[in-house]
Amino acid sequence: MSATISAIGIYVPDTKIDNSYFEKILDTNDTWIRQRTGIINRYFAKEDEFTSDLCIKAVKNLIENNDADVSNVDFIIVATSTPDYTMPSVASQVQASFNISKAGCMDISAACAGFVYGIILAKGLIASGANKKVLIIGAETLSKVINLEDRTSCILFGDGAGAVIVEASAENHIFQSITETEGILGQNLYLSNLPAAINGQKITGDNKIHQNGRAVFKWAVSTLVEKIRELSELNERKLDKVDWLIPHSANLRILEAVCETLDFPIEKCLESIRNYGNTSAASIPIAWFNGLKSGKVKPDDIIIFAGFGGGLTSASICIQNKIALKR
Ligand code: ACO
Repeated sequence: MSATISAIGIYVPDTKIDNSYFEKILDTNDTWIRQRTGIINRYFAKEDEFTSDLCIKAVKNLIENNDADVSNVDFIIVATSTPDYTMPSVASQVQASFNISKAGCMDISAACAGFVYGIILAKGLIASGANKKVLIIGAETLSKVINLEDRTSCILFGDGAGAVIVEASAENHIFQSITETEGILGQNLYLSNLPAAINGQKITGDNKIHQNGRAVFKWAVSTLVEKIRELSELNERKLDKVDWLIPHSANLRILEAVCETLDFPIEKCLESIRNYGNTSAASIPIAWFNGLKSGKVKPDDIIIFAGFGGGLTSASICIQNKIALKR
């Protein structure tokens, strides 16, 4: 059974946070943040606004932008590191909100690679014949888990959500994928509410993001370069035949280093880091949606998505865009 991505929508909360917000509370400044990360703005959810609220608004936006029908969705996957609660799943709250009568529901935990994992799972569900129409949402309220006393990490993250529909189709537009994990590096990026241990190393259980920025940066650049090369070979598609690269937006310098090493034009790399910060599982659909809205991304364009993050894990996939949004 073949599959295609037929619809997309996004949502970000109303409150825009520019770099001056951090200048007031930390020893940091706009110039450092822009130069070292590329970030200009990010959006923070209100105190009473949670990941499920962002998911529901992203799905409403998907319905509006694509005249899509979600009533016959038969599986919902939410990729998030910041669910409202451990159970029930955020996916089941989306199901309830849209009164989708028959849908399997689950949340997945693959940090910033979660959206791409979701696409890969949806394709598998459809290819197996188990499902026909899958709703995948990458969504985060990372503002609730940043440590505002840690200037090396709190300036990076933002809130947002991106939703897509993957459905069975006559022609296949979702091609080969690669997933890989180096769990041995897991302690370099974690979020835990228990004082547990990762690879024998004790961690802080304060429900805040902890990150060894330099280690993750180094791993991200080498992993992205290696996986994008492997993926292009696996799909028998040279990189000069790829129209757009949409990596997870963690840091503009990571994207610049990857494009330079791959000799891939940076103008063909779509990002959401400048205006939204690192929105983890939402960063790829936000960049894709904005590329479609601006008219850059056109029907039939070939796109590589490359997610990477906590795990440390990565997931990459090549697709053909079939979405044309109302502009
Ligand atoms: N403002 C001012 N100075 C700062 C700040 C700040 N906000 N943060 C750090 N500095 C200082 C440091 O203290 C250090 O000072 P020193 O030289 O006096 O010791 C200096 O700036 C350089 O620090 P580095 O840590 O080397 O800075 P770097 O260029 O590596 O940037 C950053 C840090 C932005 C965190 C970067 O390492 C990064 O983006 N890493 C990868 C993040 C990532 O990819 N995360 C994965 C996805 S997230 C997920 O999965 C949820």
